[in-house]
Amino acid sequence: MKTIEIAAKIRICSHIELTDEQKSVVEAAKKATSGSYSPYSHFKVGAAVLLANGEIITGSNQENAAYPSGLCAERTAIFYAGARFPDVPIRKLAIISRTGDVFGSEICSPCGACRQVICESEVRAGAPIEILLCSADEAYIFDGIEGLLPFGFSGKDLK
Ligand code: THU
Repeated sequence: MKTIEIAAKIRICSHIELTDEQKSVVEAAKKATSGSYSPYSHFKVGAAVLLANGEIITGSNQENAAYPSGLCAERTAIFYAGARFPDVPIRKLAIISRTGDVFGSEICSPCGACRQVICESEVRAGAPIEILLCSADEAYIFDGIEGLLPFGFSGKDLK
């Protein structure tokens, strides 16, 4: 038997330690929580992606009385970016949650389906996407989806 260990490098920064570019993506994600439609969970999530052309595209969670028909903030933002700018790679993604007027005291971590979609976006981009999982005070920064989705499934596995 062989055992392997999987390690992930995660940088934990307070918001003031972020670069200007990172701050602008995080700010956009915070603003995007206002567009959340979450009458069932009352958990607002905002996501923002920075594209290689400098555009920032945002999304928020959109719930539905038939629960599985709703969509998370990250996928809303990523699919919207893909629809608007199909040929422009995503470079950064920020996610944050809010309940009422208060941003989460814990980071907002993407669900499995969103991780899979981020993985596909990296394949499309041809480069890792920096992912900032934010709480009110901090950001957990991953250099790519590998740290959140080890052994991810992608198009190369279909060959
Ligand atoms: N949600 C997101 O939008 N993104 C996440 O990263 C975690 C969960 C949404 C889905 C649902 O509308 C609500 O949060 C509660 O699960």
